[in-house]
Amino acid sequence: MCGIVGYVGKRAAAPILVDRLDDLSYRGYDSAGIAVANDGVVVVEKLPGKIENLRKALTGNEPPGTIGVGHTRWATHGAPTQVNAHPHADCAGKLFVVQNGIIENFPALKRELLARGHEFRSQTDTEVVIHLLEEYYDGDLMDAAKKTAARLEGSFALVFLAADERRLVAVRYHAPLIVGVGGGENFVASDITAVLQDTNKVYVLENGDVVSVEAHRVDVDTFLPQRAKAPTERRLTIVDWRAEDVSKNDYPHYMLKEIYEQPRAVERTLQGRIKDGEIVLREMDLSPERIRRVDSFHIVACGTAYHAALFGKYLLERVLRVPVSADIASEFRYRAPILGPKSLVILISQSGETADTIASMEEAQSRGAKTLAVVNVRGSTLAREADAVVYTRAGPEIAVASTKAFTAQLTALMLLACYVADQRKVELPYGREELLRHLLELPAHLERTLEVAAPTAKAWGEIIAGERDCYFLGRNVDEPLAREAALKLKEISYVHAEAYAAGELKHGTIALITEGTPVVSFMTQKDVWDKMISNIHEVRARGARTFAVVCEGGYGLEDLVEDVLTLPAVPELFTPVLAAIPAQLIAYEAAAALGRDVDQPRNLAKSVTVE
Ligand code: F6R
Repeated sequence: MCGIVGYVGKRAAAPILVDRLDDLSYRGYDSAGIAVANDGVVVVEKLPGKIENLRKALTGNEPPGTIGVGHTRWATHGAPTQVNAHPHADCAGKLFVVQNGIIENFPALKRELLARGHEFRSQTDTEVVIHLLEEYYDGDLMDAAKKTAARLEGSFALVFLAADERRLVAVRYHAPLIVGVGGGENFVASDITAVLQDTNKVYVLENGDVVSVEAHRVDVDTFLPQRAKAPTERRLTIVDWRAEDVSKNDYPHYMLKEIYEQPRAVERTLQGRIKDGEIVLREMDLSPERIRRVDSFHIVACGTAYHAALFGKYLLERVLRVPVSADIASEFRYRAPILGPKSLVILISQSGETADTIASMEEAQSRGAKTLAVVNVRGSTLAREADAVVYTRAGPEIAVASTKAFTAQLTALMLLACYVADQRKVELPYGREELLRHLLELPAHLERTLEVAAPTAKAWGEIIAGERDCYFLGRNVDEPLAREAALKLKEISYVHAEAYAAGELKHGTIALITEGTPVVSFMTQKDVWDKMISNIHEVRARGARTFAVVCEGGYGLEDLVEDVLTLPAVPELFTPVLAAIPAQLIAYEAAAALGRDVDQPRNLAKSVTVE
């Protein structure tokens, strides 16, 4: 989705803005622009296409000035053209805005503003915002921003710049925005990663905040009447991510770097959380009494996080022996879920800002349920607004395709399952000590898996890259993993892929298996081993090229599959954490072989903050 940056300080704003936009480019975008103010004059440069176009246009031509705003646009209303790119200006060319989100009542506002003589240049919803600001502006940007925001409906993050003021004014309403606090300079950004090069101190803005950002001070107010008397102090958050975490180092792509970071990410997820045989989840703000009373568990998420949710369903049901549902957030929120005060709704999200997942949390809370967020980004909306939180601690994930966040989510769910089992006095499977030991050994097993998977995944990825379709099969916890493998392959290589519960294939989809179709089977579960073998026979009989991912000890595959990838042996409930590595690497290698833009696949955005 769109990225926002703002700078006010003593350094030249233009190069800082362009560099910070680059840091946000992973969110997905199709045009970029900046506006820089100097002595009452504002220069705007904006272009469709890559940030490199903007950088080139500015080379040798940089506007002077130490205050400005920048934006990467991911088109919603209006094509990705120069005129639709942000920043947008008022009629007089004195006021400027960049926006993230959607202004739902823009048609009515536009009619009103046209009638009052405003001239519109773009097809965007954003442009109404700046003409509205022009109506209210009489030399006080803060006051005009409050009046403007109060007229808007939808979800939005806005940053305003006025030619004649030495401050930026930022507004947050259901779209993320932070203020980065530096020494004699301050930043505004839609994402923490955009300020990490300069500071690790941030204010995470709340819904309704209108914030004046000067080089030496930050003042918070609100445009929501119901919050007029609420405290305006914001706690400074110290972010534990480092600038190096958001650089590519020597890897050709962020995605590959993040795949290789998984042993460390999972180690961080586990760190300090298993102590003297006890599970310690400090941020888990739900009383043991409350956990014991839960009579239904629901897990809700989108995309890759939803695949973690499906794993969570298998896991919690197996460990706790209680019913657990797993839902896609955009469905859950509209299907009138049956929830009450004894329900616990677990929301899983890397960003903590996915619109449908947030709406599901609100839906659950409105029905009296308790909510628990399993989230990667500290201070994100889900982390702040859920009743309890478990951080996945994977570190910043930059590539659009989620990798290390996924394995960290699986690991966090395993910790959570053990924690809830303890509170409810349920005995853990495999024996407690054994299980916890295996959990702690996961990072080492991941290292080993990376070594064994890399060459095989490259060979399979290159085969798949030459095909039109690919199928992934699995049973039990391998089924969500098969789904994740198919999603990864589709989103970054654009090879059509589908995942199937292996037993379900013959109820229709097997009709699509023809001579040479690659079929990759995940088969890490002993009790369905023979069933998987039968399913492979079925696709082989229809001409499929077959590949299998198994755990040490898998047998009987000779003459049945073309190649086998063997993972280290771990308890069966843990295998998806390891099997995720070949799933991700196969997709990566196929995409690389096809020369795709791995980190920024077409049409996709990292964090989906609109419905
Ligand atoms: C796929 C991917 C997406 C996200 C989904 C949810 O690789 O990254 O499917 O998993 O958009 O995002 P979060 O986890 O931020 O809620």
